[in-house]
Amino acid sequence: MSTPVVSPSPDSHTFARPTEAVVRHLDLTLSVRFEEKKLIGKAVYDIVNQTGTDAIFFDTQQLNVEHVTIGAPEVATEFSLEPEDATLGRALKVKILPDTRRVTLYYQTTPDAAALQWLSPAQTAGKEHPFLFTQGQAILTRSWIPVQDSPGIRFTYNAHLKVPEALMAVMSAVNPTERSSTGEYHFHMPQPVPAYLIALAVGNLVFEPISERTGVYAEPETIEKAAYEFAELPHMLEAAETLYGPYEWERYDLLVLPPSFPFGGMENPRLTFATPTILAGDRSLTSLVAHELAHSWSGNLVTNATWNDFWLNEGFTVYFERRIIEALYGSDYAAMLEALGWQDLQHTVAELGTESADTQLKLALEGRNPDDGMNDIAYEKGYFLLRLLEEHVGRDRFDAFLRQYFADHKFQTMDTERFITYLQEHFLEAGAFDSLQVNQWIYGVGIPKNATKIDAAKFAEVDNFLHLWISGGVINKNATKDWSSHEWLHFIRQLPREVTSEQMAALDNAFHFTQSGNAEIQAAWYELAIRHQYTPAYNAVEAFLTEVGRRKFLVPLYKAFKETGQLSRARAIYQQARPGYHYVSQATLDQLLKS
Ligand code: BES
Ligand code: ZN
Repeated sequence: MSTPVVSPSPDSHTFARPTEAVVRHLDLTLSVRFEEKKLIGKAVYDIVNQTGTDAIFFDTQQLNVEHVTIGAPEVATEFSLEPEDATLGRALKVKILPDTRRVTLYYQTTPDAAALQWLSPAQTAGKEHPFLFTQGQAILTRSWIPVQDSPGIRFTYNAHLKVPEALMAVMSAVNPTERSSTGEYHFHMPQPVPAYLIALAVGNLVFEPISERTGVYAEPETIEKAAYEFAELPHMLEAAETLYGPYEWERYDLLVLPPSFPFGGMENPRLTFATPTILAGDRSLTSLVAHELAHSWSGNLVTNATWNDFWLNEGFTVYFERRIIEALYGSDYAAMLEALGWQDLQHTVAELGTESADTQLKLALEGRNPDDGMNDIAYEKGYFLLRLLEEHVGRDRFDAFLRQYFADHKFQTMDTERFITYLQEHFLEAGAFDSLQVNQWIYGVGIPKNATKIDAAKFAEVDNFLHLWISGGVINKNATKDWSSHEWLHFIRQLPREVTSEQMAALDNAFHFTQSGNAEIQAAWYELAIRHQYTPAYNAVEAFLTEVGRRKFLVPLYKAFKETGQLSRARAIYQQARPGYHYVSQATLDQLLKS
């Protein structure tokens, strides 16, 4: 394994000072206490004191650090928790010696730790056992492990967990496939990872293999549906390797979480965490799996050095995701995803404002919560820049470039400026760099005019159908029988703003959107229903908002209430639903619905 390097890019979202003293390996021992909603244990770090400094700094948030030692055998040392920063938490300063190579931190988490969601049995599929999961990205890992929490600092880890005997524990590491009778689990993560990629889940889980290298973890009630939905995963993995080089993490498994999981997916190495809202029953929402899988290269292998460079993680991943999808399902299918992405981008730019600094690819998040800058700009503007480069040099050259990029920087970090230098040195002559306005794309606001024009043939058919319906009330069901989630999403998004309740009802009668089992269709339809006060859908809307905690779905729905004079209804639903959401969704919605 290559030696972890200290990122040369300063990260304003950590208190760590890795150029002085840096962690190389973590040995974590934790007891998981559901009754108290607490983790209790210790973090033992192998460190390198690079400058002979007398202190090492860690990030903490909401943690109780009880005792700190250095060396082996352990000797107590002085430590202090610095004053709290509302966004970053508290620096933990530990006194060390020039030759200190080990630091041991004894600590406990608190019940409201931001990364952790403690679910009651009622919030699970089986309704019998509690469930715990973590969400580390961007800067939440510090709320369950005292850690140098910067994407530029990588380390290997081992973990020893004690959980209730009825439950199984899994991590972003080498995982068990069966429940241990003692409730004890030992994990090993041989590849160095940044803190945001450390993850843990504990629940009534079972494992189902899909292929030699892939499989799925879920509650017993969900496992069969999950195994069906993800049957094409091995082909995705093969397609990804064919495109951009060997998969470096040995296994790729998926964990299907309860519906309160705040994201669609999270690329925890070796074990992607996924929302159950992609279990549509027809494999139509698995581009999300392609996305998280792609992060095994862009993000996990080559990691954004700071959260200002987030587009290097997400933009590359969206590009890679669409290439995997194209390899499996063809270019007509991939073009639909691209067109939906373009719509998302237009929408986000309109919301932020074309002059907003948050529409730049390179962000300036110092003094802010990194979460505030993480929107579709990184994903879709990032995608369209790479698409432009691809178009300019041709696929073969672009693919060779990306393969080389991943090989040259694996297990390292990348920031925007080094990427530009690499691009110029290995790929793009100065004339092209200027004529394509790469600097404008990265440091400028809005969407440059030379963005690739999108043309999804399958959506032309949808537009056609829509036109017939609007102009003459014709609903030709036969024309829609082969539509996937994507055509339906496009259809719902393109419905005219002035659609009436009668028209909504006619569509609902024909296509049963309100009762759809497809969360993407539900979310799009419910937003429309709220905006048009189509009340026959309101019970379903409320049930959806109470069941699902995925922020991407929640925000547009609550916002639609708010923007159409229905704020009190939104608040009433939120009051009921909020305890079932993870901290990241709560934080966003508290802001949106505050008085
Ligand atoms: N890494 C992200 C999720 C994330 C981003 C968590 C920022 C915390 C902070 C993940 O890869 C992702 O992008 N998930 C998307 C799905 C994807 C298909 C666009 C999501 O959760 O919706
Ligand atoms: Zn992503």
